[in-house]
Amino acid sequence: MSLRTNKYIGYLFEVAWILPSVAIPVAVLVAVILTAFAVGITVPGAAGRVDPQALASTAPFDQPGLKELAPGRYEATLIGQTFVFLPNTIEVPRGSKVTFILTSRDVIHGFKIVNTPVNIMLIPGQISRVTHTFSEPGEYLFVCHEYCGAGHHVMSGKVIVK
Ligand code: CUA
Repeated sequence: MSLRTNKYIGYLFEVAWILPSVAIPVAVLVAVILTAFAVGITVPGAAGRVDPQALASTAPFDQPGLKELAPGRYEATLIGQTFVFLPNTIEVPRGSKVTFILTSRDVIHGFKIVNTPVNIMLIPGQISRVTHTFSEPGEYLFVCHEYCGAGHHVMSGKVIVK
């Protein structure tokens, strides 16, 4: 093989690597744009703002707790504060779809429901919203997963699914 042919083969190999290295990021970008704008999939996050000093007089945090919107459809409003969740027990029938609306009264807390994908931050001033359907009966522990002070390890509660 001549030097010229070798160079040509080398060039082909280079192109064979350059094309996917451009095509893959472009494909990922298209997938992100499609899921975000066409399908509406986003990370759970800020669903609004609230004055953490005025929770007692701001709906829905003036009446934390469970609200039935329709059969099997619930809204649970919870406040995180050092070192409790208010309320710390939610009871729903099996198969219920629950939208959690949460915020923090003081410092940054976390909200993780064990054995579910629910995992969100509670940030003072920010409303967090996340929805989950509880298909299996049982007791679902939820915990604060952001270190918030001396009582962080006792900050927990549970969703009881009957
Ligand atoms: Cu609240 Cu850790």
